[in-house]
Amino acid sequence: MPVEWAGWGPQLLLELDRTSATPLRSQVEHQLRVAIRAGRLAAGERLPSSRVLAAHLGLSRGLIQDCYAQLQAEGYLTAHTGSATRVAPMAAGKAARASGRHRPPAPKPLIADFSSGVPDLRLAPRQDWAWAIGQVCRTAPNVAFDYGPPNGDPRLREVLAAYLRRVRAADAYPNQVLICTGVAQGLGLVLRVLADRGHTRVAFEDPGAVRTVRDAARSARIDPVPVPVDEHGIDVAALARSRSRVAVVTPAHQWPTGVVMAPERRHELLAWAREHDGIVLEDDYDAEFRYDRDPVGALQGLAPDRVVSLGTVSKSLAPALRLGWAVLPPALFDDVTAAKSVADRGTSGIDQLALATLIESGRYDRHLRRMRAVYARRRAILSAHVPHVTGLAAGFHAIAHLPAGASEREVVAAARARGVGIYGMSDYRADGSCDPPQLVLGFGNTPDAAMEAGLRAIADLIGGR
Ligand SMILES: Cc1ncc(COP(=O)(O)O)c(C=O)c1O
Repeated sequence: MPVEWAGWGPQLLLELDRTSATPLRSQVEHQLRVAIRAGRLAAGERLPSSRVLAAHLGLSRGLIQDCYAQLQAEGYLTAHTGSATRVAPMAAGKAARASGRHRPPAPKPLIADFSSGVPDLRLAPRQDWAWAIGQVCRTAPNVAFDYGPPNGDPRLREVLAAYLRRVRAADAYPNQVLICTGVAQGLGLVLRVLADRGHTRVAFEDPGAVRTVRDAARSARIDPVPVPVDEHGIDVAALARSRSRVAVVTPAHQWPTGVVMAPERRHELLAWAREHDGIVLEDDYDAEFRYDRDPVGALQGLAPDRVVSLGTVSKSLAPALRLGWAVLPPALFDDVTAAKSVADRGTSGIDQLALATLIESGRYDRHLRRMRAVYARRRAILSAHVPHVTGLAAGFHAIAHLPAGASEREVVAAARARGVGIYGMSDYRADGSCDPPQLVLGFGNTPDAAMEAGLRAIADLIGGR
């Protein structure tokens, strides 16, 4: 019979077979040994007192005391007079090594890491989030702690719809907004529904979020097809040739080239969607951080029946919150809601209310204003140190164009040897090509001083100043 002890001390499932010929004392000893070796009981972890464990297992206290004494003698447990019995450090260390779960030595810290896609984690709005969660816990009715509607909390859907109409010129109303755990989930759910409806291909931008889209497509059993991007956005003629009727695009700030989709290109793309009965999945990437260009509204606002707009707080607040949304054409809404319900029965209701509270209070906008100033400063640092840089109109990454003939891989490796993490565009090309040689330099989570030090350390490699 499995017996779990709770309360004082760690929880651990012990299975005692009272019909077995093996004595109960041996069973308890053996199971504790196995738990320690497997790391289920960690070094230093406190075991329940012999009295508590004996009561939980329905055994005599003396039997448990004998087990503990035996395991102490074998070096699995330690105990000092007057203090609790604990797992011995050596025992758990041996166990972790034996199970191969120990970590390799940490790599040497970098002077600067220009990886992309993460906002400044040092400036994550901890206090605002704690305040919003506190407000919700103090004021929300009991029913807020129940399962909520799978497509999201009605209040957040209303607040977000209003926000997206105001800030992104989206044609968004609460009955079209579905709350999900980020763009990644929204994309996966929509592709699954489209696959169920007979779509067999999904076109994606090349360069682009190659891995993300390929993974989501494969999981939905739909073929990912790369379509080139030029200086105006996705090549719509090539898209038409791809024979896909679904396209994933990043019009606000193309990931990763940084191109802002030109107005004519937007109209061409929407004409393609109408002509081919197509669906555009707009990843409204980096829309929050614009610098010296006019705001560009969401594509969804121009064709709400053809465009799914996907958004996230991963860049505006923090990726760990796992909160995002999809603004859906009415024809897709119910099926995507059903898919969301199957996936997880809905996103955390308390977190949804906290986001609604943050937006309504004005703290969300205030955080964005602060962060825009931080990223604008870093953008200036990048421009000052890197000679050929593009894609800086928005967001917190840019493209450095290496001199013709330079080897992207060699530059990346040489920078790494000097303690600077830089990343090649080849990671984002469908065929992994290094031609032309380019770097994708993220500066969201790279402090100003580290940026300056890092860029100085690799100036000669990138033809810099
Ligand atoms: C192109 C692109 N869009 C959106 C996201 C955000 O995804 P999520 O909302 O799932 O965190 C990422 C994350 O790195 C991304 O690379």
